[in-house]
Amino acid sequence: MSRIAYVNGRYVPHRSARVHVEDRGYQFADGVYEVTAVVDGKLVDNGPHMERLDRSLRELGIAWPMTPAALSRVQEEVIRRNRVRQGIVYLQITRGVARRDHAFPVRTAPALVVTARHAGPPKAAQVEKGVKVILQPDIRWGRCDIKSVSLLPNVLAKQAAREAEAFEAWLVDTSGFITEGSSTNAWIVDKKGNLVTRHLENAILSGVTRRILVELAVAEGHPIIERPFTPAEAKAAPEAFLTSTTSFVMPVVQIDATRIGSGVPGPVTRRLRALYEAHVQRG
Ligand code: PDD
Repeated sequence: MSRIAYVNGRYVPHRSARVHVEDRGYQFADGVYEVTAVVDGKLVDNGPHMERLDRSLRELGIAWPMTPAALSRVQEEVIRRNRVRQGIVYLQITRGVARRDHAFPVRTAPALVVTARHAGPPKAAQVEKGVKVILQPDIRWGRCDIKSVSLLPNVLAKQAAREAEAFEAWLVDTSGFITEGSSTNAWIVDKKGNLVTRHLENAILSGVTRRILVELAVAEGHPIIERPFTPAEAKAAPEAFLTSTTSFVMPVVQIDATRIGSGVPGPVTRRLRALYEAHVQRG
């Protein structure tokens, strides 16, 4: 079956899906995106993704190309046409096509692309064993709260992780604190059993998985402290994990050369993963 993409009002074969060379996303990375998980053919927590998209668009002064409800219908149609049961739907909105000039163009319509693809959940073996992360300097800009398609520092950090045979790179700011992963949020469990993850601010993306997990953990009585933590604290923590749309809750058992806890996923992380999986299955 051939894949279908949605490009500016049309459903087209994925292999011939095109945007213009003067799309500002292509020339200036002047655009935003969202990735929503698909489980059993249904969008997972798309409401919070739409809220975050609204915020990203507002912060950049880009108009909605259609209403959020209409956009959700396009996401569902792309999922349907590609027969995705388990996977992701990607959407990207740029400021549109205009003659190249850094300042915003006047009267240019935003451009919208939506794609979907199959992707299995994280491999059971990986979840059982846990993963390794490496530390990299956070060289990103000052508005990482906006889900911008400008991802070059994230790309470089993830590539460094790949070359080190690690799952992810955790980024360290100039004050020596971990911000987040290249495409995930970073968490530790401290010695008292508190869940620690960086507070929401311009230095990190407000992850939808992070948001949902905070709600689920609070409801079950896990204490949460939202504050920065250092690599030294993370390496000495009994447990660590990361969260994202595609990884759910993934145990971290090694940071650089240091083993975390006993080197296997800990009980708190396992419980949180189970809580999150149950939430996803409930739909
Ligand atoms: N990444 N931090 C960054 C920098 C991210 O890019 C992401 C998401 C997250 C986690 O957010 P969420 O829980 O909403 O997925 C944190 C997506 C999945 C991506 O770029 O593919």
